[in-house]
Amino acid sequence: MCGRGALPPLRLTRDTCAEPWRAGRCRCVVGEVSAGAGTLGEWRRGGSTVTGQGVSAVRRRRPPTPSPSPSRRQGVLVPSAPPARPVSRHQRWNVHRLPRADGRTFLVTGGNAGIGYFVAEQLAGTGATVVLGSRDPAKGEAAMATLRSRVPGARVRHLRLDLADLASLKTAVDTAVDTLGLDRLDAVVHNAGVALDDPPRRETADGNEVMFGTNHLGHFALTGWLAPLLRAAEAGRVVTVGSFAAKSERLDLNDLQSRHDYRPKRTYGRSKLAQMYFAAELDRRLRAADSTVRSVMAHPGGALDSLTPSRPPVHVRSLGTRLRGLPAGLVVQGKDAGAWPVVRAVLDPEAAGGQLWGPRVFGLRGRPRPEPVAAYLTDPEADAGTVAAHLWDASCERTGADPGLGLT
Ligand SMILES: NC(=O)c1ccc[n+]([C@@H]2O[C@H](COP(=O)([O-])OP(=O)(O)OC[C@H]3O[C@@H](n4cnc5c(N)ncnc54)[C@H](OP(=O)(O)O)[C@@H]3O)[C@@H](O)[C@H]2O)c1
Repeated sequence: MCGRGALPPLRLTRDTCAEPWRAGRCRCVVGEVSAGAGTLGEWRRGGSTVTGQGVSAVRRRRPPTPSPSPSRRQGVLVPSAPPARPVSRHQRWNVHRLPRADGRTFLVTGGNAGIGYFVAEQLAGTGATVVLGSRDPAKGEAAMATLRSRVPGARVRHLRLDLADLASLKTAVDTAVDTLGLDRLDAVVHNAGVALDDPPRRETADGNEVMFGTNHLGHFALTGWLAPLLRAAEAGRVVTVGSFAAKSERLDLNDLQSRHDYRPKRTYGRSKLAQMYFAAELDRRLRAADSTVRSVMAHPGGALDSLTPSRPPVHVRSLGTRLRGLPAGLVVQGKDAGAWPVVRAVLDPEAAGGQLWGPRVFGLRGRPRPEPVAAYLTDPEADAGTVAAHLWDASCERTGADPGLGLT
């Protein structure tokens, strides 16, 4: 993550850049890339020449609160999400002492690594059953073993799940029902994600651009297959993991698959934006249908491998990596902390549909709090409903999903 902000001078290197995903595979998703070898950007005090739109957006301490008034679309009065409440109302949430969730079941896509692993570990500590969705059975097994060593008595299962293979998703959910014995799902966390660094543009076997196809379409289709399980829970939740990378992008409805304009960082940011449009639209539809299911958004801020505690063999951090990553800890955080807003969106009874949860400090690090949702996602005057509805229709077409996704 690059750009300039009102923060102490700090060089962000390939290892310390936010949104790194894997050590050594850094992505500059927000701002400019500077020319220095291995140097992706620099924070400067003052910030009179902000270059990264996303950074300037997350630096605003008090962005305008979204209107609480109802919106009207297609002749139907659709209630908006409640505005984010003041932070002080949420200070009692303790990320290290989570409420118990015995008897509940959560599915975390990409639960075998990164933020998803820590979401799973933290949820497992509440007594809940946690299903790790992973495309690689060996990684899934390794993550389960690690998680059990950290959380004695953890109820954890693995489900083979490849979001880039749309045809496999129904089979995966059938397996969850038949083999894992799932009869309801209290929350699915749409966490898995792929971000490519370089051209050329690549496609999934289904003919979708890889990032749009995996991050958005895969989760869109999965939601439809999981609908009966989510409806069977007392208050099911769909928790979508967005990104500040989405803030600096706009969807091109005529080029959702980035056929004409493929730039890896842009396409990644747009895939995350598509996920957030989906989550906001799902919330509107669930409310209009008076559903018991909620759609909640969360984002991890900036979460680096170099600031993440070791969980061998899932993640191993050497002393050198740890020391090199220390300065970045002033600005961003580890993936364990990146999981906090996501976990809160899953567990907090006060987390309402349509809300966005993120880290407290500049939206980059710290304890979770509700953030204002950008107007372009919710405001009818900003055509939010039109864009979201178009994306929804296009997603149904590409995935073959039922227009109501089985939820509305
Ligand atoms: N890290 C950040 O600073 C940051 C910031 C904003 C948003 N996010 C979001 O947070 C989420 C997690 O990021 P992360 O940093 O933890 O990434 P990560 O460490 O690279 O983990 C990504 C996870 O997604 C899985 N995955 C990728 N493609 C998949 C597919 N086709 N089917 C199933 N699973 C697949 C990966 O599985 P494999 O191990 O098999 O590859 C892995 O478990 C992503 O949605 C990302 O967009 C991250």
